[in-house]
Amino acid sequence: MFVTTTSISIARAGSRMYPAARVSLRFRPSARSHSSGYRLYHATTGSTCLDETTRGLRPGLCSTLHPRASRLYVSSSLYAHRVSVTAAQRRRCPSSAMSTIAGPRTQPIDAPLTQFATFIVLSVERNADAIRTVRSTLAKVSDVVKNVAFRDASAQLTCTVGIGSDVWPELTRQPKPRELHPFREIRGAVHTAVSTPGDLLLHIRAERRDIAFELERQLFDLLGDAVRVVDETVGFRYFDVRDLLGFVDGTANPVGPDVPAATLVTAQDDGGVAAEASVGGSYVVVQKYVHDMASWGRLSTEAQEAIIGRRKFDNVELDDAPPGKQRSHKTLATIEDENGDEYAILRDNMPFGSPGSGEFGTYFIGYSARLWVIERMLERMFVGDPPGLHDRILDFSRPLTGTTFFVPPVSLLESLDED
Ligand code: HEM
Repeated sequence: MFVTTTSISIARAGSRMYPAARVSLRFRPSARSHSSGYRLYHATTGSTCLDETTRGLRPGLCSTLHPRASRLYVSSSLYAHRVSVTAAQRRRCPSSAMSTIAGPRTQPIDAPLTQFATFIVLSVERNADAIRTVRSTLAKVSDVVKNVAFRDASAQLTCTVGIGSDVWPELTRQPKPRELHPFREIRGAVHTAVSTPGDLLLHIRAERRDIAFELERQLFDLLGDAVRVVDETVGFRYFDVRDLLGFVDGTANPVGPDVPAATLVTAQDDGGVAAEASVGGSYVVVQKYVHDMASWGRLSTEAQEAIIGRRKFDNVELDDAPPGKQRSHKTLATIEDENGDEYAILRDNMPFGSPGSGEFGTYFIGYSARLWVIERMLERMFVGDPPGLHDRILDFSRPLTGTTFFVPPVSLLESLDED
């Protein structure tokens, strides 16, 4: 595994709003690290604080660190390390010492939203041959993607692989990520988030359908009869990133350096006991929803906007409903802790369907460093907040599936061939 150690200390000076901060870093790449350059940037603006192209970072000056910045990142071509600054450490400024986590190479969770995406959920046959075949295929995924992607780099082909809880031990022979368990059914008074089986998720994104198709073909050639397809859904971008209900979908996603903070498990997130296999990975939940377009179409635009929490035409956010009243989807899906800190997730939803057969749907996919965040969103949607006032989007959208996976770092996938 690519492990490095870093220590960082920050000394602040200057104005109250934008104090200059002197950042001292000690960075020790591991013997097996191949990177030659590192970058330090901070969460609030994403701007680079310090560039260094040698193997060791020397103390540098960061003039743009925001006083409330709670996260810094050290990134290189191989790593995106998050350096968390706790509230207590912030209070202790101007001189606080922090230690950081190190992470292995991550799968392309943060790939851009493309014109097409294919979501493939597979079950793995439980016999030694099948397990061996799947292990060796997963070890090759990066190479296969590279092989296809090279034929048109502008197609931005990526594939992330998720592994389900039941097959994890046999497939990876590594300790399970702390929160990983099968999708738990959530029963509200009116609607149910169903739990459906799935051992593997392939989330393929590309600007060209043929390029995604070719990758699928090559992967299925390798997998052979070691797997069974549980569900395969091809999604497409609909105008300006709208879902089939007509609303722009994905606006509140984290961007830039907030993406790793929201999506990647760190040693700290896992209570300091994260298995090496988890750090740099991400939990992912998928649900395939079908819409009742006729009923939805009978609502006025204002009624639809109240359900979603944004204006349909220009995507402007509407005010939250007062406590105790029916809340919009946007409000129910906003998770805060007791300190008022919000926990974002990364969604890459895609419309799918076929007008000829009357199928109109949204494939929901959410990546998070913390599975509990997505589970709490689902609880608030299906049970309601307050209980009984469920998310009204569910009166027009029914989940056919619900499955949870863990997307391990690339280094774990690549190690699966070593028997
Ligand atoms: C039928 C399925 C769904 C549809 C059509 C849908 C659509 C939308 C739309 C239009 C928005 C507002 C724009 C935006 O910020 O993206 C939104 C926001 C959001 N949705 Fe969904 N969604 C669906 C299911 C889910 C599920 C199952 C979850 C979580 C488990 C979820 C989590 C979120 C979050 C976190 C936000 C952003 C809230 C904020 O403003 O902070 N959505 N969704």
